Amino acid sequence: MADYDFDVLVIGSGPGGYVAAIRAAQLGLKTACAESRATLGGTCLNVGCIPSKALLHASELYEEAASGKLAKLGIKTPTVELDLDAMHAQRIDAVKGLTGGIEFLFKKNKVEWLKGHASFTGKDSVKVGDGEVRAKNIVIATGSSVTPLPGVEIDQKVVVDSTGALELAKVPQHLVVIGGGVIGLELGSVWRRVGAKVTVVEFLDQLLPGMDGEVRKEAGKLFKKQGMELKLSTKVTGVAVNGGKATLTLEPSAGGAAETLEADAVLVSIGRRPNTSGLGLEAAGLSTNQRGQIEIDHDFRTSVPGIWAIGDVVPGPMLAHKAEDEGIAVAENIAGLTGIVNHDVIPSVVYTWPEIAGVGLTEEQAKERGEVKVGKFPMIANSRAKTNHEPDGWVKVIADAKSDRVLGVWMIASVAGTMIAQAAQAMEFGATSEDIAYTCHAHPTHSEAFKEAAMAVQGKPIHI
Ligand code: FAD
Ligand code: NAI
Repeated sequence: MADYDFDVLVIGSGPGGYVAAIRAAQLGLKTACAESRATLGGTCLNVGCIPSKALLHASELYEEAASGKLAKLGIKTPTVELDLDAMHAQRIDAVKGLTGGIEFLFKKNKVEWLKGHASFTGKDSVKVGDGEVRAKNIVIATGSSVTPLPGVEIDQKVVVDSTGALELAKVPQHLVVIGGGVIGLELGSVWRRVGAKVTVVEFLDQLLPGMDGEVRKEAGKLFKKQGMELKLSTKVTGVAVNGGKATLTLEPSAGGAAETLEADAVLVSIGRRPNTSGLGLEAAGLSTNQRGQIEIDHDFRTSVPGIWAIGDVVPGPMLAHKAEDEGIAVAENIAGLTGIVNHDVIPSVVYTWPEIAGVGLTEEQAKERGEVKVGKFPMIANSRAKTNHEPDGWVKVIADAKSDRVLGVWMIASVAGTMIAQAAQAMEFGATSEDIAYTCHAHPTHSEAFKEAAMAVQGKPIHI
């Protein structure tokens, strides 16, 4: 330790970085975390997971009242009024509370927050703001930011990215979303629920690339049913802004006649890219791969001894819980323990209504690897979902035909984001579909649909 300022310096305080820093400190290592943003918590807490869920929750309740869904339950709300300022205020409050919470946890665990932009000056030295520190171990957890669409300028007024879309001061009459991925569907849902007409322009022939094929098809049907207009297999070739309005030029992805679309807000959500520019990687002897990511080994070591990397800046899904688990594992590896993340079992959730979730292989991927058995159970046949007037969706369990081991679980259900944890746990324990089918599930719960989908793999569900 003699000439090092810290045992561990983490660059970035997102869910990867702050968790790594806290666990390193818990393990007795002298730890600092460099963060250039004014508050801790990274993309997730400041402009990602948390503010988007604050708006998703509030807009869902608004729609329940405004659409008459509550009235059907005997709850009359004759004058439903949107107070967008108050909706934003509770979003800001949620962010403030949680980012402040990380600051508290840093103090509690004696993690030093080095405020400012960090940039390598050598393999074990980093300039942060005006100062320079040396650390025995450096964890790069710089996260990601919005991928720009060439030729489309984000002005955060008419043409916004996800951060701008969280902060729109009024409900747009027509919001065009470029990219039918997770951000486009979540934030598109928020603004549709509070009154915007929403058109989603997606380059591919289905929404949500990477998810199970049947889920993608069903999601398309459900969002259409909710009133979203979907323009699939379509690309945006230009956006012109004039007098507070946008005119988009669209073309079929495969080429063909162009058309135009007028909008008063445009959300660009075509993916995110790793944050490495201005990080001085060359001074540390590091480089990035073709996708701009920092390559690591199974233990999260980069090619330079003593430098580690985790989260959105490394290959893999760009998800907060994946970053968090990597944060714990990297700190444990630095401390000489064995930190492992099973990247085959990372759940993903789209927090729309209903929620869409999956873990493990898609049916397509599983079939490529061998023979499978598939069991499906519709939410309409689940007593709790039916009673709650939540008929949309289903649960699908994909198991290996010979061993019966569960390879993947996909679901569309009001509480799929919560239910998928059980599937992840079962897969982590190497469960068979029979194990799930013979596990007693409380009644009446949505989770019984998971049990019945597993029973369907056995060919013996009860309620269908
Ligand atoms: P980040 O959270 O991006 O944090 C990196 C931090 O490093 C930032 O604060 C940045 O300021 C700082 N930094 C970068 N470079 C430097 C530097 N050189 N010096 C100092 N500081 C630096 N994921 C989910 O799992 N669930 C969700 O519901 C979800 N919702 C999302 C909604 C939106 C709108 C967006 C945009 C993302 C969402 N995500 C969600 C993705 C999630 O936010 C990311 O996967 C997660 O934040 C990645 O964590 P990270 O620690 O790798 O990086
Ligand atoms: P995404 O990768 O989920 O979706 C981008 C979509 O844009 C894809 O469907 C792609 O085919 C489409 N696309 C790309 N170029 C296009 C073009 N020129 N024209 C039309 N469509 C185009 O990326 P998104 O939604 O921006 O989200 C970024 C990341 O943030 C995701 O990887 C996700 O992991 C993470 N995130 C996670 C959330 C969650 O876990 N609930 C919520 C929000 C974001």
